[in-house]
Amino acid sequence: MADKREAVLFFFPEWGGMHMTAWRDPEAPADPTMDFATIRQMVQTAERGKFHGFFLADTLAIRHSLGRAELSRTAKGVRFEPMTLMSALSTQTERIGLILTESTTYNEPFHVARQFASLDHLSDGRAGWNVVTSGTPAESLNFGREEHMDHDLRYRRGEEFFEIVTGLWDSWDDDAFLRDKESGVYFHPEAVHQLDHRGEFLSVAGPLNVARPIQGRPLIAQAGSSPVGRAFAARIADAIYTLAADFDKGREFYEEIKGLASDAGRDPAAVKVMPAMIAVVGRTQAEAEERMERLDSLVVPEVGMAQLESILEFDFSGHDLDGPVPEVPETKLGSRGRQQFFLEKARRENLSIRGLMQFAARTGAVAFGPEELADHIEQWVRGEAADGFNVTFGDAAGSLENFVDLVVPELQRRGVFHRDYSGATLRESVGVPRPPSRYAPAVAGESVD
Ligand SMILES: Cc1cc2nc3c(=O)[nH]c(=O)nc-3n(C[C@H](O)[C@H](O)[C@H](O)COP(=O)(O)O)c2cc1C
Repeated sequence: MADKREAVLFFFPEWGGMHMTAWRDPEAPADPTMDFATIRQMVQTAERGKFHGFFLADTLAIRHSLGRAELSRTAKGVRFEPMTLMSALSTQTERIGLILTESTTYNEPFHVARQFASLDHLSDGRAGWNVVTSGTPAESLNFGREEHMDHDLRYRRGEEFFEIVTGLWDSWDDDAFLRDKESGVYFHPEAVHQLDHRGEFLSVAGPLNVARPIQGRPLIAQAGSSPVGRAFAARIADAIYTLAADFDKGREFYEEIKGLASDAGRDPAAVKVMPAMIAVVGRTQAEAEERMERLDSLVVPEVGMAQLESILEFDFSGHDLDGPVPEVPETKLGSRGRQQFFLEKARRENLSIRGLMQFAARTGAVAFGPEELADHIEQWVRGEAADGFNVTFGDAAGSLENFVDLVVPELQRRGVFHRDYSGATLRESVGVPRPPSRYAPAVAGESVD
């Protein structure tokens, strides 16, 4: 029933704050991106707030789209390698899910299957994989390729890659290991399966040298926004990330994804649609707005323009900054979803180029008081525009704590958010089924996607 729906929330950190100037805030930590103690504390705070998971985005390059001079004015140049960081954090947390990004374009499926299976065991079933095809050309240059692979070809490889990874995860039956000291049998020989995959892009023999993940498969996230990307996400993902410009766009996307999942033979309720939300959270709405203005006042215009131009893949030189945003051709290599999100915002709110630049420097952050943010989450979740949110904070100090201490209790009071983790694994607490092995007969109640 619609009024029983609870939000799934992932903490989606940009350690230095999403606003480009957040790291300069006097209250922000000295080194928000490479200091493990700071990061550990933030994740432990998110766990105190019962976030179902926390999700690390990643690209395999420094953000080249900003020139070095502009980049040097942000905290966005350096970050930990995600699997290494997650492994460390898995020992410092108990319940929160650990979802991270790995690319299907610049990777080998054997590596990826092995790493996530290991993380799932290390964390007692809390691992999740955000499957990306890598959208920025700078990434190809770090892997010996002059040309970034074409969009649809990347998805074809991604499909094959995903099949191999899930096949490798099924290498060992759940009950493969006997470890019988008496008889001397460590595992049942018939309980290990050889993949022997030979396909268009990849050949992998298998089996994997890690036991089947505790969750069967780590939770799968995907954020395709093109038609081919959405169809892929609806077939494979348990959590689908998106950027929704407003409530109506959110509802459209939600309905489309649930329809695509159903067409793919899946239970739409087990596919969680999770838009990103970027919030500066105050103890009151007025306090949040004041904080945002303080961060805005620190924006260097050249840096803001460089940010806007990189998002839109468009050169604004020669345009009047106080004039309207002109027609912008669809990005070839960047994120079409992100580009559309910004252009729709400009159209809807009649923003000038300068206004959109200011928003770009905020990188989408919006100011909220606790009540206002709880209203927003409740409206979207009860109104079937989202099953939950990926929550990013605009600043590096204050918003996370305000969310945990003020927004979470308000959501709980309204019955829109769980009071505690309900299951042992990430899949259980999010409410998505544990997939059976492809080698095992399906058991009633399990999904057979
Ligand atoms: C919330 C969210 C998080 C994303 N995280 C990543 C990421 O960490 N790494 C990455 O390469 N792409 C990331 N993407 C980009 C998507 O994977 C995808 O490429 C993009 O939405 C464009 O869709 P398309 O690939 O179907 O064209 C993210 C997108 C969204 C909306």
